[in-house]
Amino acid sequence: MNVLGIETSCDECAASVVVDGKTILSNVIASQIEEHRIYYGVVPELASRIHTEWIAPTVQAAIDDAAVEIDAVAVTNRPGLLGSLLVGVSFAKGFAAAKGIPLIGIDHIRAHLYAPQIEYKLDYPYLGVLVSGGHTVICKVTGYDDLEVLGTTIDDAIGEAFDKVAKHYDFGYPGGVAIDRLAQKGDPLAFRFPGPKIREKTNPYDISYSGLKSAVINHLDKYWDGKSEKSSENIAASFQRTAINMLIKRIRAALEDTGLTSISVGGGVAANSYLRSELEKFRLGGYTVAFPSMRLCTDNAAMIAALGYHYLKDGIRDGYDMKASARVSAFKKQYTPGG
Ligand code: KG4
Ligand code: ZN
Repeated sequence: MNVLGIETSCDECAASVVVDGKTILSNVIASQIEEHRIYYGVVPELASRIHTEWIAPTVQAAIDDAAVEIDAVAVTNRPGLLGSLLVGVSFAKGFAAAKGIPLIGIDHIRAHLYAPQIEYKLDYPYLGVLVSGGHTVICKVTGYDDLEVLGTTIDDAIGEAFDKVAKHYDFGYPGGVAIDRLAQKGDPLAFRFPGPKIREKTNPYDISYSGLKSAVINHLDKYWDGKSEKSSENIAASFQRTAINMLIKRIRAALEDTGLTSISVGGGVAANSYLRSELEKFRLGGYTVAFPSMRLCTDNAAMIAALGYHYLKDGIRDGYDMKASARVSAFKKQYTPGG
């Protein structure tokens, strides 16, 4: 089955054709990074306006590259920026109606967690880690549609923390890439930033980034070692070390407690070189570690088409009244202090 995937949940306008959830025939990603750079972040109104201009040529390019008949359309309809989601959803409805083919709405987070299955053959269950600008989720993935959230951020997403620190110090945009690059030349111990103040006994896999972000932005001197240079490189390296180590600690705890032996990491922050090198160490411990290639880590429509195939195969479809939703409650684990 040739499924056309459409993804417009944030600032990537993407379309892809995937055969039977596995073989990618085309994967077109038109990124709006340049359009949002001057604002140091994604401007929702601007993002949706650009999607309306780009969606038709992007889908056309994906279909031309694939050069096959399209059997069904899968589109991200949750979660994300509502105005942006609506562009993809409306286009997909029109496309499906014009062609008389099935339509299915896809959860962006489930698609990120499914992405490694396109390139790897990971046996379920595995530990899924999604680290992006909008999400930080650690979960047990038991099937293409089944997962159990073990931990999430209780405030900022990890990528958001990278972006906000970079914006404050004018390191560059997108912030994660700029910090990763600066950190290569910095001393990660120049500043000893604190870890999150979460009751780890009761919430061992939850994470918080707002305290770290505030420490780096507002209380630099308090955590300085007193002798190193207060350079951009040293700030970046020290922040990155703390942010990633917090995550690694929770991944390790989740692996040990669940007994899972495979781990898949996706989302934009999965590109981080320090995170990747720390996760390589899990391989030495006998774990299978899957990093989807970069084009499948960041936002793309191949993961939407690939996951869509499974629902369609199981007879699941949406009608033309399908809604777009900014949020998905399943991925907000309620944090209860002390409980
Ligand atoms: O998955 P993604 O492309 O979009 C979202 O769904 O959010 O992730 C974007 C996030 C941004 O916060 C960006 O700063 C971060 O991924 N990022 C990185 C790196 N490359 C991108 N963070 C840390 N290190 C990187 N090398
Ligand atoms: Zn994403």
